[in-house]
Amino acid sequence: MSKLPENLYVGVGSIDARHEEFWALFEKLKACSDDVFISVFEEVVAHTKAHFAEEEADMSSAEYPNKHEHEQEHKKALEEMNYFMDKAKSGKLFFAKAYASDRLGDWFRTHLLNMDSDFARVMKSYN
Ligand SMILES: [Fe+2]
Repeated sequence: MSKLPENLYVGVGSIDARHEEFWALFEKLKACSDDVFISVFEEVVAHTKAHFAEEEADMSSAEYPNKHEHEQEHKKALEEMNYFMDKAKSGKLFFAKAYASDRLGDWFRTHLLNMDSDFARVMKSYN
């Protein structure tokens, strides 16, 4: 199982641990066979919901000023995941597999490098 790429570590333990968990599930999703794709995708969605909720709770505790914008990004990402989950469940597995291999990783990387690393910078300034 591949690990979170070195350049995606932000240096805050709680954030990095969630990102490692996401990355492991993301790799599992890309590598899994069609017959288990929906169940692995469900694991990714469940993880992501919990991951975002924990991150948002941390943002509240830290009184992070960009919380609203960050939450909007989370909301859009979950809507997109649910859209492709519906496609997969309605028999269009191809669309969901293309999303998993072409789009999801790019989204995660961009979100992490822009938004999560900004939040990490604020978290670190408190410690
Ligand atoms: Fe985030």
